[in-house]
Amino acid sequence: MNSTNNTTTAPVITIDGPTASGKGTITRLLAGRLGWRLLDSGALYRLVALAAERRGITLDDLASLEPLAAHLDVEFVAGEPDEEMAIVLEGEDVTSDIRTETCGNGASRVAALPVVRAALLERQRAFAQPPGLVADGRDMGTVVFPRAAVKIFLTASAEERARRRYNQLKDKGLGVTMRSLLAEIAERDTRDQQRSVSPLAPAEDAVMLDSSDLSIDEVVEHIWTLCQVRLY
Ligand code: DC
Repeated sequence: MNSTNNTTTAPVITIDGPTASGKGTITRLLAGRLGWRLLDSGALYRLVALAAERRGITLDDLASLEPLAAHLDVEFVAGEPDEEMAIVLEGEDVTSDIRTETCGNGASRVAALPVVRAALLERQRAFAQPPGLVADGRDMGTVVFPRAAVKIFLTASAEERARRRYNQLKDKGLGVTMRSLLAEIAERDTRDQQRSVSPLAPAEDAVMLDSSDLSIDEVVEHIWTLCQVRLY
């Protein structure tokens, strides 16, 4: 199996892509099927945004944001494969607090700050432990795990992603309109793609997968087949 970076030999599968492309669900199902660990790197950026807001740290206060990101007291508590992981910040369950659109927008802003990205780099790499890791984000295949065994770049049209996010938020009882979601998704895509540090982009050796017309199971099956070829 391929090594993933200089410090570990655990195999890594990276799943990168724009917001609401289904990365989270696919990553969870794939990690469950393989019996591997999971890294939701977006949650780390969301946690930094939430912790900063709660402490009254503004996003231009880099001197406070850097240690905040480096020493964030976070615990990821895995549940069943079909359940979301619980995320605990400083002893408090913030699983749903970090999923709001406000927190997502804050995350997209802190994610554009090089000091925050640098502070989170080694924390993310530390997730690569045997028997293996499925990591989802924007720069998993390009920056964090450049030597990952399998790299997927998962996309879907902006309309389809807005529709999926709308249904997700509606299920959680959070009121939003399709129109506002589409505008936010477009804004976040632009910010994620155009930032100077680790912009959202497929790795050169990533497999591109457009999920607009695929079910979740079809996407998982596709990646699973690819893993059988590349990993074993
Ligand atoms: O995947 P998500 O929506 O939870 O991510 C929240 C924000 O964090 C997203 O706007 C971009 C940023 N992010 C990033 O820059 N790099 C990552 N590896 C993961 C997320």
